[in-house]
Amino acid sequence: MTVSRSILLWASQNKWMKSNVPKLFFVQKALKKFMPGEEVEYALSEAVSFQQREIGTVFTKLGENITTLAEAETVTNHYLEVLTKINNQKVSAEISLKLTQIGFDISVDAAKNNLGKILKSAEDKNNFIWIDMEQSAYVEKTIEFYKHFRKNFSSVGICLQAYLKRTKRHINDLLPVSPNIRLVKGAYMEPPEIAFAQKSLVDKNYFEIAETLLKFNKEGIARIAFATHDLNMISKIKEYSKLNDIRKDGFEFQMLYGIKPAEQIKIANEGYKIRVLISYGSAWYSWYVRRLAERPANVWFILKNLVAK
Ligand code: FDA
Repeated sequence: MTVSRSILLWASQNKWMKSNVPKLFFVQKALKKFMPGEEVEYALSEAVSFQQREIGTVFTKLGENITTLAEAETVTNHYLEVLTKINNQKVSAEISLKLTQIGFDISVDAAKNNLGKILKSAEDKNNFIWIDMEQSAYVEKTIEFYKHFRKNFSSVGICLQAYLKRTKRHINDLLPVSPNIRLVKGAYMEPPEIAFAQKSLVDKNYFEIAETLLKFNKEGIARIAFATHDLNMISKIKEYSKLNDIRKDGFEFQMLYGIKPAEQIKIANEGYKIRVLISYGSAWYSWYVRRLAERPANVWFILKNLVAK
């Protein structure tokens, strides 16, 4: 891990910075590149434009590690309302959420109850819910939670992180429930005992897992999303699927709003399925700094906004 990435990941968790940095006008201005607005209406409006270009979307309300059950209930009700809005406006938008947003840290039973309500509503509306993967301390618990729900709901997916050395094993654990998997590289600061520290090793693991998932998908078992902006990785996945006669609609790509938008259109025009994840909400600080850590050059973009006052 580079020093700049480590510093930014540390900053993403720093309490003082969390309450002060979001007030800076130039940070707010730069944020627009990654987030169209704090209210869900901005995401809905962007989703309509994406849909015209054959690109689906995934919505996520920012905020993690909430501390009261009342907050967890508010988030749950919010997602229920969003599912209704998506349904009424006939937009091709799914939802991605963090378990710690719906009470996982406070009461597993409450989180189960909240997720159950969201999944029931999604299934009734023919929609789909993705469960994000958070820091390593949550991984095993999230997988157990997912297995529990996947037995009763078909429209639920889980995110797995290629930087974790144990992810290959998790795929085997998940196979019996026919999982829907979104594969990412991983966005948090993790110790080298459990996570590959070198980017080349993360990339190698990502592709090896991608091959396994595609083999698995050929048997028609799961939905697979490759969530990455790594163009070399995307080419390798396309190449592998061609060589192995896997149909273009047998898997999908996912990217984040504002990152490589021209590539997103290109992928859709080539006939592959693609969704763009649009974030919204006021609790954007930690999430935004993780985006900066993925490409520290983004910090210059913020500073440019300071100069271009
Ligand atoms: P990599 O970091 O190698 O980047 C490849 C190239 O993409 C870079 O060279 C750069 O050009 C560009 N790029 C990447 N990030 C950029 C940025 N922020 N700004 C500008 N350019 C950038 N993580 C996690 O731990 N749990 C989760 O639940 C999720 N969920 C999730 C959903 C979706 C839809 C996506 C796309 C990503 C996530 N992630 C995530 C984040 C993921 O783990 C990872 O941190 C980022 O996707 C960056 O990794 P890449 O695969 O893009 O590769």
